[in-house]
Amino acid sequence: MAIDGVTFPVYMDNQSTTRVDPRVVQAMLPCWTENYGNAGSLHHALGEAAKNAIEESRAKIARSIGARAEEVIFTSGATESNNLAIRGVSLHPRNRRRHLVSALTEHHATLTPLRRLQQSGFDLTLLSVLPAGHAEAGRIELQQAEEAITDQTGLVSLMLANNEIGVIQPVSQIAHLAHQQGALVHCDATQAVGKMNLNVQDLGVDLMSFTAHKMYGPKGVGALYIRGGRPTVKLLPQIEGGGQEGGFRSGTLNVPGVVGFAEALTISLQELTAEQSRLRQLRGQLWKGLRRDMPELTLNGPDVERDEMRLPGNLNCSFPGFDGQTLQLNMPQLAISSGAACSSSQPEPSHVLGALGIDEDAIRSSLRFGLGRFNTSAEVEFACQHISDAMDRIKSML
Ligand SMILES: Cc1ncc(COP(=O)(O)O)c(C=O)c1O
Repeated sequence: MAIDGVTFPVYMDNQSTTRVDPRVVQAMLPCWTENYGNAGSLHHALGEAAKNAIEESRAKIARSIGARAEEVIFTSGATESNNLAIRGVSLHPRNRRRHLVSALTEHHATLTPLRRLQQSGFDLTLLSVLPAGHAEAGRIELQQAEEAITDQTGLVSLMLANNEIGVIQPVSQIAHLAHQQGALVHCDATQAVGKMNLNVQDLGVDLMSFTAHKMYGPKGVGALYIRGGRPTVKLLPQIEGGGQEGGFRSGTLNVPGVVGFAEALTISLQELTAEQSRLRQLRGQLWKGLRRDMPELTLNGPDVERDEMRLPGNLNCSFPGFDGQTLQLNMPQLAISSGAACSSSQPEPSHVLGALGIDEDAIRSSLRFGLGRFNTSAEVEFACQHISDAMDRIKSML
């Protein structure tokens, strides 16, 4: 239902996932009913057509991130890509290095495989980040990274943009430090690809994970960039079978998903500059509108004015005196997150906000807004009013 430019429910949870762009759906449609072959069946025309669709998509995606087609493999999403990168490097029989470096604010899809490796005997260093209140809250300090990475470090795994507070990490500088010690670098760029200008050469990473459903593409399809050339990135496959994707990831390829992924990334990059400034404007309107009714609101994460430091559509703030989940229950027309959506089935307070030194009450009172392609200024105005009404309703019940 839409009234005066506002579509209900108003969706502002684009860091969790995004609506598939209708142009992406159009590109995918023929892959279900016409071009439905198995990309591994090369003995007939339908298989060949599917294979061609995959390879065209691979070439487009690779070009978009500054890679060569043979350096990109498809997976089921960024969780799988992160697991393959982290476990694949660490558990490769030729790997002699037993130390891993990452950060406290990483996604569970990074932290969980790292902790599993730690349980099996690897040393793990999780870097802390600048605290709440700092203009660069959530950023890793280079000096800390430099001290942590040694000639025993096998892999440094860091995200480029954070899914909860949108902070952008100095990945290229840390990659440089890691390479000086002979360590490989993996980057979880799930929230960054399609949302900011990036290139694997400039980032200087050896492995990079990303996924289609954060950029208006389908769920269940992701990619891992694996740098070619020397020194060789040695990866132990985590899913074995028919040897697809160069043996790194067996399984029949998701042709509609891959085609949709390429289309989604192409559109995102074509519209990137205009979309970034539109989202910054909407976020500015949201931040101002929220503070109009609640001046004591606190911002979580880096300064929203520091464009180079924060994803354009992300806003995370704490509403002192309110519980985020109670607020959500009182805002049935607004889809947003309290803490990370990926972990909202677990009631514990967000580990990301905890790493910023934010106290538990403030974490429980936090909400994350993820503005995206389909949000409008009228929706932002509606959201501010809806939240204000919810706060009044909760206060009147106390
Ligand atoms: C930073 C980050 N990494 C990894 C993931 C997992 O991605 P996927 O849902 O494709 O497995 C997410 C999704 O929430 C994410 O935000």
